[in-house]
Amino acid sequence: MRPGGTAKLGEHEVVRVGYGAMQLREAGPDDGSVAVLRRARELGVDHVDTAEFYGDGVVNRRIRAALAPYDDVVIVTKVGAEPTTGEIDLRLAQRPEQLRAQVEANLRSLGVERLDVVNLRRADAPPGLLAEGDQVVDLDDQLAALTALRDEGTIGAIGLSHVSAEQLRRALPVGVVCVQNAYSLVDRSSEPVLDLCRERGIAWVPYFPLGSAFPGQTHVTTLPTVQQVAARLGATPSQVGLAWVLARSPEAMVIPGTRSVAHLEENVAAGSVSLTAEDLATLDA
Ligand SMILES: NC(=O)c1ccc[n+]([C@@H]2O[C@H](COP(=O)([O-])OP(=O)(O)OC[C@H]3O[C@@H](n4cnc5c(N)ncnc54)[C@H](OP(=O)(O)O)[C@@H]3O)[C@@H](O)[C@H]2O)c1
Repeated sequence: MRPGGTAKLGEHEVVRVGYGAMQLREAGPDDGSVAVLRRARELGVDHVDTAEFYGDGVVNRRIRAALAPYDDVVIVTKVGAEPTTGEIDLRLAQRPEQLRAQVEANLRSLGVERLDVVNLRRADAPPGLLAEGDQVVDLDDQLAALTALRDEGTIGAIGLSHVSAEQLRRALPVGVVCVQNAYSLVDRSSEPVLDLCRERGIAWVPYFPLGSAFPGQTHVTTLPTVQQVAARLGATPSQVGLAWVLARSPEAMVIPGTRSVAHLEENVAAGSVSLTAEDLATLDA
C-alpha cells in the first residue's frame, strides 16, 4: 500500500502519509505504542519522525522494539534539544558539540549505525523554548557540524526544522532534503518557507499538521469549514486537514501523531481523500 502516493525524502522514496512518534513519549510500560507502530507499518507507512528528546529515548526505544531492523523504513530524527528531568523534559542543545552528542544518542537508542535523515531544530522563535546565552548559535556553525557528520557517514541527509525562508536559503548550499515547520489549516505562517521548498523540490514535512495535542491550541478538526468539507466528502475532519496539507505541494508529506490505532487508520486513509477546487476554496475562505 502507498497511502497518498510517494515523494522523495532525500535519496528515499517514501509514502506521503508518514507517522510522527512524539505522542508515544509517555514513560512507563508500553501501553500500545509498539502496536501502533506495527500497524502503521502494515498500512504501508515507511517514514517515522522521532527524536531522542521525546521521553529521554523512550520513543526511540519503542520504535526500535517495533520496527528494527527497519527494513525499508526511513527514520527521521532531530537534534537541537536534549532530554532532561523536570516538568519540561527537554532543554535546548544547539551548540555544535551538542548536536554531535544528540546524533550519537539517537544512534544508540535506535540501534543503527547511520541516521537516515537528521533535522536541525532551531529555536529562534516560538513555539517552544527560545535560545538564549550560549544556546544562540550561528546557523553556519551548526550546518558545519552536521555536514561533518554526513561526511563521516553517521547521518544520511540533513533537514531543517522551525526555520525562516531566509535561513533555509542560507542553508541550501549544504543540501537540505526536508523542512519541518509548524503548518496546518490553523497555522499558515510558514507559507514563504513552503514556497521556497516547492521552488527547490525540497520535501515539506510539517509538524502539528492537525494543530497539535497541546491544550489551548485549536485542533484542525474543530474548524467549521473542515467539518463542512468532511461532511460533503464523507470523510472525517482529520482526513480533510491532512489532505489539505498534502494538496499544498507534490513534495508535501504528513506525519500526524496519535496514540490510537483507530486514528492512525483514519489518518493513513487521508492519503486517498481528494479535495476538489470547491473544497479547497471552502478551506481557504
Ligand atoms: N520539529 C519539531 O519541532 C516538532 C515539534 C512537534 C512535533 N513534531 C513532530 O510532528 C509530529 C506531529 O505533531 P503532533 O503529534 O505534535 O501533533 P498533530 O499531529 O498535529 O496532532 C496530534 C493530536 O491530534 C490527535 N489526533 C491524531 N489523529 C487524529 C484523528 N484521526 N482524529 C482525531 N484526533 C486525532 C492526537 O490524539 P490521539 O492520540 O488521541 O489520536 C493528538 O492529540 C509529532 O508526532 C512529532 O513527530 C516535530
